[in-house]
Amino acid sequence: MAACGPTARFGAFIFCESRGRAVRSLDGPAPDSLYDRSSRASSRRRTIDTFVFPRWTNKLRVAVAVAALGVPGYGVLVLGYGGAPETTDVGYAPVQPIPYSHALHAGELGMDCRYCHASVELSAHAAIPPTATCINCHGTKFGIRRTSPKLQPLHQAFYGTDRSPPGQPIPWVRVHDLPDYVYFNHSAHVNRGVGCVSCHGRVDRMEVVYQAEPLSMSWCLHCHRNPGPNLRPRDQITNMTWQPPPGREGQELAQKLLVEYNIRPLDYMQMCSLCHR
Ligand code: HEC
Ligand code: HEC
Ligand code: HEC
Ligand code: HEC
Ligand code: HEC
Repeated sequence: MAACGPTARFGAFIFCESRGRAVRSLDGPAPDSLYDRSSRASSRRRTIDTFVFPRWTNKLRVAVAVAALGVPGYGVLVLGYGGAPETTDVGYAPVQPIPYSHALHAGELGMDCRYCHASVELSAHAAIPPTATCINCHGTKFGIRRTSPKLQPLHQAFYGTDRSPPGQPIPWVRVHDLPDYVYFNHSAHVNRGVGCVSCHGRVDRMEVVYQAEPLSMSWCLHCHRNPGPNLRPRDQITNMTWQPPPGREGQELAQKLLVEYNIRPLDYMQMCSLCHR
């Protein structure tokens, strides 16, 4: 504890023991603005009660004004850009280590999504295929395009090189990524007739996979509040072009599937703990 002597400089608040309790006091000569003259004469040791803000605090008022004006501006920014595609990651399409094309494999060649994303109906996650799945067709001996430079990273990972052992995974860059506090489950959706295209868009036309939907909470809830029109027969879940029949027939199909899949009521579908466990 600093002493309350004459050496203590102006502006430094010092706690002094005075009649058994701590009071804040100012010592030494102070400019007039700090004290009213009469009381200044009467006592040198003063409590905080008569403290007047020093002049430099006027500058704080400017800072406060700037902050007050800034808040609405910030609000506009958040509202304007918070939901914009750039911030929700719509269109996010990272460069992948191999120029693998869904447009070619799933589109032109017509491969089913489950050939590679085999676990999508069985577990929460849709597994990214291991290198060996690609080697089924792109092995170095008899494989398709076995001399293509585009497949070199695949061959190096699978067969190994002088510097790296065989059987390495391809370091694919993740495209879709919900925050950790959100629970999502592929099998729960796919087995109740929600097609890949509803959430991932026309993957069969993508040279490079990009995020087609915002994956925001309101986006999830939009479907959870009215799932009927988004349901399809289970054998169509990987079909990218399936459409419900128009008009009455479509409504009847939606109704039929809601019952058939035993889709739960609205209060269950909106329950916070469904997605935040
Ligand atoms: C021949 C194997 C293969 C087939 C068939 C295939 N994919 Fe993929 N898929 C991959 C690979 C490899 C990746 C990781 C590289 C990439 O993102 O391009 C991937 C990535 C994805 C991703 C992005 C995953 C992430 O990182 O968020 C989605 C979504 C996806 N596939 C959906 C589909 C859908 C829908 C189909 C069917 C229309 C399909 N895939 C068919 C191999 C395949
Ligand atoms: C069912 C067989 C099959 C599987 C499995 C398969 N591909 Fe292909 N891939 C093909 C065919 C067919 C072509 C087209 C060849 C052509 O255009 O002549 C091709 C072309 C390619 C090309 C373009 C090569 C070039 O020179 O243009 C790349 C890159 C490629 N595949 C990567 C992959 C990767 C990575 C995987 C695993 C995720 C994979 N493929 C799985 C059949 C397959
Ligand atoms: C109801 C929406 C929805 C449907 C239907 C859906 N996905 Fe996804 N998918 C997602 C979300 C959300 C993520 C991100 C998950 C995460 O970050 O945990 C994702 C991630 C992925 C991934 C990356 C690996 C993973 O599991 O995180 C692949 C691959 C994928 N989906 C493929 C598919 C395929 C193939 C189908 C159809 C058989 C499909 N998805 C159907 C919403 C969906
Ligand atoms: C296109 C429609 C659709 C979209 C989009 C959608 N869901 Fe669903 N979701 C469903 C349906 C249908 C069910 C099945 C309800 C049932 O089992 O009664 C479901 C069920 C679930 C369940 C329950 C799984 C279980 O184990 O019972 C969770 C969790 C869930 N969804 C999370 C999400 C999240 C998180 C998102 C957004 C990233 C999302 N859903 C987007 C349609 C959708
Ligand atoms: C159908 C799934 C689903 C349900 C039901 C759901 N959420 Fe969410 N919630 C999400 C997803 C997905 C995100 C992540 C959104 C993102 O990444 O922008 C999220 C994000 C949030 C966040 C973080 C928001 C932010 O801006 O960072 C809060 C808080 C939240 N949810 C609260 C709730 C509450 C409270 C309820 C119940 C009234 C609820 N959620 C119900 C899917 C859901």
